[in-house]
Amino acid sequence: MNDRTKYQIMKEREFLKGYHSGDAGAEKTDQEQKLPSIPSLKKRRSQQTIALPVEFDRLGISSDIWDLIMRRQSRRRYAPEAVSLYELSFLLWATQGIRKFAGHKEQVTFRSVPSAGSRHPLETYLFANHVAGLSRGLYHYLPGEHVLELWDPAQDYEAELTRALCGQHFAATAPVLFVWSALPYRTEWRYGLKASKYILLDAGHMCQNLYLACESIGCGACAIGAYDQDHMDELLGFAPGPSVDPQYECVVYAAAVGRVREGQ
Ligand SMILES: Cc1cc2nc3c(=O)[nH]c(=O)nc-3n(C[C@H](O)[C@H](O)[C@H](O)COP(=O)(O)O)c2cc1C
Repeated sequence: MNDRTKYQIMKEREFLKGYHSGDAGAEKTDQEQKLPSIPSLKKRRSQQTIALPVEFDRLGISSDIWDLIMRRQSRRRYAPEAVSLYELSFLLWATQGIRKFAGHKEQVTFRSVPSAGSRHPLETYLFANHVAGLSRGLYHYLPGEHVLELWDPAQDYEAELTRALCGQHFAATAPVLFVWSALPYRTEWRYGLKASKYILLDAGHMCQNLYLACESIGCGACAIGAYDQDHMDELLGFAPGPSVDPQYECVVYAAAVGRVREGQ
């Protein structure tokens, strides 16, 4: 290992500890400086929205937590059937759904997953490939209204997504690919340099909910950390970065989802 790599490893390990050696004397966080934050919900940008059904009792959800934890595994092969809109709606709710709104001056959301300071820096995008009642395309989830908005009706992402996912064709062609981005400033506003660590911890909780929620309805998920950052950001139309723009957004994680194959 050369000195440059050793230095970089050190920096990454500092990141794991939630601090950087230059932190001593760091300025106050933006919250401490009483600067305005940004909302934890993005505004809708499309006129085309798709209501998500919430009659989850139709799904026969298994609530046997022991069984769900024991069964959970990364599933990369899916049944030929489509994922239903009910199932997708439940999975979106389980990963980012809002349980409660709070806050006076600034809206705070409490969701189905924990988030450091309830800052909720993550956004959900879907590449829908085989969802009953949903045409193929790229969608954005609006947790505030529990609806999807259509971002791009392009029918065929297979080749480009496979490249962006470092050749993982099973994920590019999965019935649904969840792609999660972060708006880091939502968390940085309160936690400054510790924010990046917290954002990734938030993402881990959320994806575990996806795994367990999938198992509870006969679906399967596979987390995806191997992707080409620039390519994925470009596919979602995010400005190249990083930059210090408070609206800066980048992909942090993804997961492929489909119905479990018979006998698996
Ligand atoms: C952060 C993270 C990134 C991952 N990235 C990928 C990936 O890009 N492709 C993939 O096929 N599996 C990926 N996985 C799934 C792991 O390979 C899987 O969890 C591991 O092999 C253990 O298997 P299990 O989940 O069935 O217990 C990832 C898992 C995590 C937690």
